[in-house]
Amino acid sequence: MNPNLDRLYPYPFEKLNQLKQGIEPPENKTHIALSIGEPKHQTPELITAALVNNLDGIAKYPSTKGIPELRTAIADWIAQRFNIPADQINADTQVLPVSGTREALFSFAQAVIDPEQDPVVLMPNPFYQIYEGAAFLAGAEAYFLNTTEENSYLPDFDSIPSDIWQRCQLIFICSPGNPTGAVISKAEQEKLINLANSYNFIIASDECYTEIYDDEVHPPQGLLQTAYEMGQTDFKNCIMFQSLSKRSNAPGLRSGIVAGDADIIKKYFQYRTYQGCALPLSTQYASIAAWQDESHVKHNRDLYRQKFSAFIDILQDVCVINKPAASFYIWLKTPISDTEFAQQLFAQQHITVLPGSYLSRQANGINPGENHVRIALVAPLEECIDAANRIKHFINTLK
Ligand SMILES: Cc1ncc(COP(=O)(O)O)c(C=O)c1O
Repeated sequence: MNPNLDRLYPYPFEKLNQLKQGIEPPENKTHIALSIGEPKHQTPELITAALVNNLDGIAKYPSTKGIPELRTAIADWIAQRFNIPADQINADTQVLPVSGTREALFSFAQAVIDPEQDPVVLMPNPFYQIYEGAAFLAGAEAYFLNTTEENSYLPDFDSIPSDIWQRCQLIFICSPGNPTGAVISKAEQEKLINLANSYNFIIASDECYTEIYDDEVHPPQGLLQTAYEMGQTDFKNCIMFQSLSKRSNAPGLRSGIVAGDADIIKKYFQYRTYQGCALPLSTQYASIAAWQDESHVKHNRDLYRQKFSAFIDILQDVCVINKPAASFYIWLKTPISDTEFAQQLFAQQHITVLPGSYLSRQANGINPGENHVRIALVAPLEECIDAANRIKHFINTLK
């Protein structure tokens, strides 16, 4: 067996199941799950219709590169979302459809890491668990950038010693962040791009929450946008990951994007032809419909805004609770340990939230996820309101 498999940690939800084992929550309270980041809003009809109308596509083998119409729709979306002239995104060489970003983030690391060169993969801490597993399976060491309240829950690129930059082959950034919802500024992205140019590493920018933002006038800055605005119009060393899962409430469609530096995309495409992850044609047509429509995405954001407002309104007089710049998560500081908080909340109120320490590792003497829980506002508004009232009651019992 591949010995790197032994380096993998149990997935957070395995730990959460264990934490809840043997507990009998009150039967008179319905269960509310705010633990999993699975969107629950209705998938738009335009997506399901396109999927169904193209089911005859399953009679054909799809190509890894995707049909040109899909790549064009993706390139056009990137151009309009990130203010890049449409003729500056090459749909043939700079764009690849992928079957969700989860597999893409993982396989990307396998394709780009050279295990012979003592590689280090940098990532935020806490983090989306795939980054670490991808680094381990690629034969790399993981180096964590703690995101804490002191640094506004953002990675501090200045804190990294130059010997780590020298060994760095890949850095994962996540903006808007899961679990913190924090957005990396243009200035910080510029700094990172300059570092990537100096030390020759790849930036993998996971932007799968970039469409779920609060401020309609100032959407989160994207990595390719920053590269372009810096004059780095070939997006050298820059790769971004986008997904329809959150944007379009279609996590089961398994459709996403990898885009950026054409040299890297070329190699990654070669890897993918062997890996074999091509999107079924029906999925490709459904994805075209999704990338070409913005009204459902705007509506989606409105629904999250309503939920954030209602949830925060109820809880703000019993705890410090802030609306994140983006994402659908609340990263809440807990008055007791995060695991106790999650366990007791489940026991008393039949609500599941995710302990922050399950999403992070000990690094530089701390576990930055400790004393936080991640609350995903994915349930319908009424359920979120019910959950907020129950959490309020629970927090009051801790005082
Ligand atoms: C930060 C982050 N990246 C990537 C993904 C994967 O999304 P998908 O594979 O559905 O595109 C998720 C899903 O929860 C996520 O939270």
